Amino acid sequence: MASSSAISLVLVSMLFSSSISQLAATNYYTPLVSKVNMNVIDSCWRSNSNWAQNRKALADCAVGYGNDAIGGKFGAIYVVTDPSDNPVYPKPGTLRYAVVQIKPLWIIFARDMVITLKNELLVASFKTIDGRGVKVEIANGPCITLQNVSHVIIHGISIHDCKPGNNGMVVTNIYHTGYRRGSDGDGIEVFHSSHIWIDHCFLARCSDGLIDVIHASTAITISNNYFTQHDKVMLCGHNDQNIEDKVMKVTVVFNHFGPGLVQRMPRVRLGYAHVANNRYDKWIMYGIGGSANPTIFSEGNYFMAPDSAYNKQVTKREQNNKGWSSWKWRSSRDVFMNGAYFVQSGYGSCAPGYTRAQAFPVSDGTRALALTQDAGPLTCTPNKPC
Ligand SMILES: *[C@@H]1O[C@H](CO)[C@@H](O)[C@H](O)[C@H]1NC(C)=O
Repeated sequence: MASSSAISLVLVSMLFSSSISQLAATNYYTPLVSKVNMNVIDSCWRSNSNWAQNRKALADCAVGYGNDAIGGKFGAIYVVTDPSDNPVYPKPGTLRYAVVQIKPLWIIFARDMVITLKNELLVASFKTIDGRGVKVEIANGPCITLQNVSHVIIHGISIHDCKPGNNGMVVTNIYHTGYRRGSDGDGIEVFHSSHIWIDHCFLARCSDGLIDVIHASTAITISNNYFTQHDKVMLCGHNDQNIEDKVMKVTVVFNHFGPGLVQRMPRVRLGYAHVANNRYDKWIMYGIGGSANPTIFSEGNYFMAPDSAYNKQVTKREQNNKGWSSWKWRSSRDVFMNGAYFVQSGYGSCAPGYTRAQAFPVSDGTRALALTQDAGPLTCTPNKPC
């Protein structure tokens, strides 16, 4: 019995792989290829060829701490038609006009566009920014700030070459416009906010961080993103003394940390990070860092160390902190290539303690390459699986 079922398994997988190569060779649409490797977030919605008519189904697909971020699930669809920007009096049809509404909105885009913002984009609660079906870039100006908000989903957009914002007036929501002291030039800054999900975005080359999670922000999932060409990639906590950041819980999953990244994938100061099934391509200084007794659980990642002999350690504890031997940093089922190694520390459980709704299967690190192969914005066509 055992051997015959093993044989039939082999046969099935042979059939399967030959059908994949046939599809590829004849240049048909090849959903099988993706399906094989689709991670649990993607398999929740991507194979539905009606994704464009059912965009809000995405809101039920997050895993990890940001799993219940609903974004604009219970709002209308709003179509952005105009890439221009006015930080104080946004015109109807622009992205800023949509994100400052009080009511929930599921925001989509009429066509490909590059939006160069004139100042930071303050996004109000209960919004989804959904770039599927078109190519949307927020680039070459200030980028996104989520401040004092909850339930925001950002999916499928490119955020790159972000610059600091100037001081001046910026609309926060339709009832409030306030003086802003200027933003740092982050790709996405998450400030005192919760229930946030950032999925399938491209992030590169910003003046400050690509994603910074600060000031007691929590319940966050950062998934399926492609990061490249940047120094300080992802910060969780802006300062070691900010003890309110102990509440921070962040899930970093299925991301591809691509070439040209220096450090902070992420760097956690206080709080907790579950870093699972990500792919790391040759960081320049280190992969995962921390400085004020954070708890870090690294699970099923694929770590490819840089070639130089001096920076093969995945981990970095910032120098001026003594006593890190008690910090709980654990590696489980990670894969270490090219001499990469992870220095563990501390005692006791590092498990994320997810609720049933937040929990998801984490694969062995050998699978992380496949699970992250579609990281970054997807190319989606209506009436076809995405
Ligand atoms: C967020 O709250 C802080 C503290 O109350 C306040 O100073 C800041 O202006 C608020 N930001 C926005 C965008 O409303």
